[in-house]
Amino acid sequence: MRLSVLVGLFIGCALLLAPVTEGCGPGRGYGKRRPPKKLTPLAYKQFSPNVAEKTLGASGKHEGKITRNSERFKELTPNYNPDIIFKDEENTAADRLMTQRCKDKLNSLAISVMNMWPGVKLRVTEGWDEDGHHSEDSLHYEGRAVDITTSDRDRNKYSMLARLAVEAGFDWVYYESKAHVHCSVKSEHSVAAKTGGCFPGRSLVTLDDGSSRAVQDLQPGDRVLASSGADGSRSGGDLVYSEFFTFLDHEPAARKQFYVLGTETGANLTLTAAHLVFVTEGNCSLGELAKGAVMRTMYASDVRPGQCVLTAGRNQGLQGNLSQVIWVHIQMDTGAFAPLTRHGSLVVDGVLASCYAAMDQHHLAHWAFGPLRLLYSWTRWTGTGASLGDGLHWYSQVLYWIGTFLLDPGHFHPWGMVTHDSER
Ligand SMILES: *[C@@H]1O[C@H](CO)[C@@H](O)[C@H](O)[C@H]1NC(C)=O
Ligand SMILES: *[C@@H]1O[C@H](CO)[C@@H](O)[C@H](O)[C@H]1NC(C)=O
Ligand SMILES: *[C@@H]1O[C@H](CO)[C@@H](O)[C@H](O)[C@H]1NC(C)=O
Repeated sequence: MRLSVLVGLFIGCALLLAPVTEGCGPGRGYGKRRPPKKLTPLAYKQFSPNVAEKTLGASGKHEGKITRNSERFKELTPNYNPDIIFKDEENTAADRLMTQRCKDKLNSLAISVMNMWPGVKLRVTEGWDEDGHHSEDSLHYEGRAVDITTSDRDRNKYSMLARLAVEAGFDWVYYESKAHVHCSVKSEHSVAAKTGGCFPGRSLVTLDDGSSRAVQDLQPGDRVLASSGADGSRSGGDLVYSEFFTFLDHEPAARKQFYVLGTETGANLTLTAAHLVFVTEGNCSLGELAKGAVMRTMYASDVRPGQCVLTAGRNQGLQGNLSQVIWVHIQMDTGAFAPLTRHGSLVVDGVLASCYAAMDQHHLAHWAFGPLRLLYSWTRWTGTGASLGDGLHWYSQVLYWIGTFLLDPGHFHPWGMVTHDSER
């Protein structure tokens, strides 16, 4: 496809200046599997990556102990993987409790252990700790660290086990003692930034004939309700029908954590933590927008009750209304979709949201994705159309790839205060 190469070059130039923005794909390491490479065991007392555990380049700083009574206890989820042996010294099943990220990495390590040594399983000697056995700021207290061995307790295997843990995606691995390997992961909050922004598949958008369509069923050429402002923020509440181009991310089977913003009008917006929403402060009267107040974008996880979002009611036509957010919940949902429209915004479940994520400047993101929107405008005329493959859009991947070179991870999506509830 010569056209895409040309456009690629053009985009390449634009991107050198562009901020990073992405869909909700797993980012780093996502996509094609690399061919198997030779695995070098870790040396005794070696850690990987070669930085301190609680730094940004590894698992990040500790965020405080999680106890059975604390609000954050529900961030921990039990791991009942039959391919993993839990020592459970304490006899409380506490070792099985861990964050989702820790669980994902551990489960993937369990598979590589069985592949490497048939008949041998992964064994966890220590997981979440509620008894204060570790140093004050240990990640064991947050369910983010595990100490592991192999089921045969063959110490000659531990240096290779440490390498397999690195390959499985643990954010920090330490061949700590002759008796075990220590592994830890980043907090869910800091990863939320990297895993970008999406809506669940069943969320509804409004088509130009007035009907509703699930986000997962969008087709190129559909015209969906969006903000008329070129960058979404300066529309005075006016809405338009905007052409849907493609999905910046498309993961029908993904199960993710979503934020739900409940508004006084009953419209509830569900989206991932790092997705951008338009908000204003104040008394949520539309008059303020008419007087030139600008809606600013912020991460879904930073929105607080009392702020105002733009809602579009059934009988309101192309005039939006400001509506106050009255609660914020977190829940799990299936399918993760990030639609891109010509206007860079869209109304989902009756609430206006940005098409972008992971960087809290909607207008910069809109600019960075300009070339892609142009490309889709062209292909519509040449009739090549859009292919809606699974995963993160190649353009988002390129932006993400460039972003990882230019920006410190701490630049993204700081963990904001949210109200949790028990729906998880
Ligand atoms: C929004 O959430 C509230 C509380 O859970 C619920 O009562 C209401 O029906 C929801 N609105 C819609 C449109 O589903
Ligand atoms: C909302 O605030 C604006 C000023 O920003 C004011 O003119 C308006 O009267 C207020 N509306 C209500 C209902 O308080
Ligand atoms: C906007 O919302 C206010 C109250 O929140 C309501 O009084 C007003 O009728 C709504 N406007 C439209 C056009 O629906």
